[in-house]
Amino acid sequence: MKKYYITTPIYYVNDKPHLGHAYTTIAADILARWHRMRGAEVYFLTGTDENGQKNVEAASAAGLGVEEYVEKMSARWQETWDSLGLTNNDFIRTTEARHKKTVEKFFKAVQKKGDIYQGEYAGWYCQGCEAFVTESEAEDGKCPIHQKPLKKIKEKNYFFKLTAYQDKLLAHIKKNPDFIRPKARRNEVVSYIKNFMQDISITREGVEWGIPVPGDSSQVLYVWFDALINYISAIGFADKKTKFKKYWPADLHLVGKDIIKFHCALWPAMLMSAGLPLPKQIFAHGYFTIDGKKMSKSLGNVVDPVELSNIYGPDTVRYFLLREISFGQDGDFSAAKLQKRYEQDLANDLGNLLQRVLAMVEKYLDAKAPKPTRENIENWPIIIEAMDNLDFTRALDEIWEVIREANRFIDQEQPWKLVKVDSKRLAAVLYILLETLRNIGWMLLPIMPTTSEEVWRQLGLEPTKEKQKKFSQAIKWGGLKQGVKIKKGKSLFPPIDVL
Ligand code: MSP
Repeated sequence: MKKYYITTPIYYVNDKPHLGHAYTTIAADILARWHRMRGAEVYFLTGTDENGQKNVEAASAAGLGVEEYVEKMSARWQETWDSLGLTNNDFIRTTEARHKKTVEKFFKAVQKKGDIYQGEYAGWYCQGCEAFVTESEAEDGKCPIHQKPLKKIKEKNYFFKLTAYQDKLLAHIKKNPDFIRPKARRNEVVSYIKNFMQDISITREGVEWGIPVPGDSSQVLYVWFDALINYISAIGFADKKTKFKKYWPADLHLVGKDIIKFHCALWPAMLMSAGLPLPKQIFAHGYFTIDGKKMSKSLGNVVDPVELSNIYGPDTVRYFLLREISFGQDGDFSAAKLQKRYEQDLANDLGNLLQRVLAMVEKYLDAKAPKPTRENIENWPIIIEAMDNLDFTRALDEIWEVIREANRFIDQEQPWKLVKVDSKRLAAVLYILLETLRNIGWMLLPIMPTTSEEVWRQLGLEPTKEKQKKFSQAIKWGGLKQGVKIKKGKSLFPPIDVL
């Protein structure tokens, strides 16, 4: 059976989950569900990044011990994903023993290769980014992203010979045009590797909370060096050979555009040094902004995904995030845009279609599905191609094309007239509409899973049974059997007045 290993970045625990984080994780969930439904054995990983000095400070501000603090905050992230119905198979925490063990093993492999040396480092550091910021990037001595004063750091560290991998990295990127997507990000990474990449300090002195350097407990490993390794600790690099062999290399690391240098240069170089294969693809999506500014705790403009989901339901949030912004580009969030999408696309187009069709089947056909037809409404090939290509916006455009086409078909055929003159055509028209709705259920399953199931339930189908079908069989026209009794239920998207 084909496998599909997909990851999200692991999130810093000193922040609480906001809509920007949910965007990455929901996109990964959609892909995980998509590949599961296509029959792959999926491993969907997310988790929390828990080491580093900033957690010590955050814990003390919260009046808690660090261990207690990271435990509490990490649980909050998992609870958020649970309440949004996300289907991650695993949740990795970088304070877990399985991770520490992996990091130690990995460090030793890189050391053995001769890629670690001691040196002195001096520079301006941003704790929010957990990275050094150059003089030219800094704005009035502050981090351009977090707008907080930078710290001058000068210390003896261990370095990783990142520059030793410059040629190999460039060659790999050239040979594998889809390794970094979208193209604009690939160009950005290539320019960084060619012009700016330097060896990187991978340890810190005087940090109390982190993984000690094997053989030198006076230093801990730099959070990014430790965090990237999570992608292999979760699947058993340290001691689960079969599992590791089965899932590595990852099929996709999904990340935000802010962290591409780490994922597209440092991580692949680390893997090359340790003698491991590289992930197949890294896809960087854009920022979610509020009035043009990146959503972040330090800017105080966060939108809580759980609050939104409590109002509109998780499916609406999923739909909105993926429909409104072309995947890979930046996009701006506004409550008015969400409300408009809810009313027009969801309530008007989809909700009404189901209601109209079921009302007519109830009224004209004694609530039973008629005989299958050959005539159909669909465009599966485009949707499959778009989903496989991570082009969610295009997939949704096409699905809505089917929905609108079905609505137009009702207006053209006018079943309320057919009932008086042509009962055969009436039955055919209503079958086409019912079977289109069953297919729409499949099209929406990875993106709006609750809605799909409700559509099927109202069509008189058993969602668990429907989902057991093999995808290629399930989407074949004619799957809805004659005589199935529909169960018209409540409206899919009832009016919500929040503005
Ligand atoms: N801990 C590191 C990642 C280590 S992965 C080995 C980190 N964490 S983070 O919590 O700050 O951010 C993680 C990811 O959240 C970002 O890369 C991005 O995917 C997502 N986003 C955070 N804010 C976002 C927006 N405003 N918009 C879109 N995505 C955002 O970096």
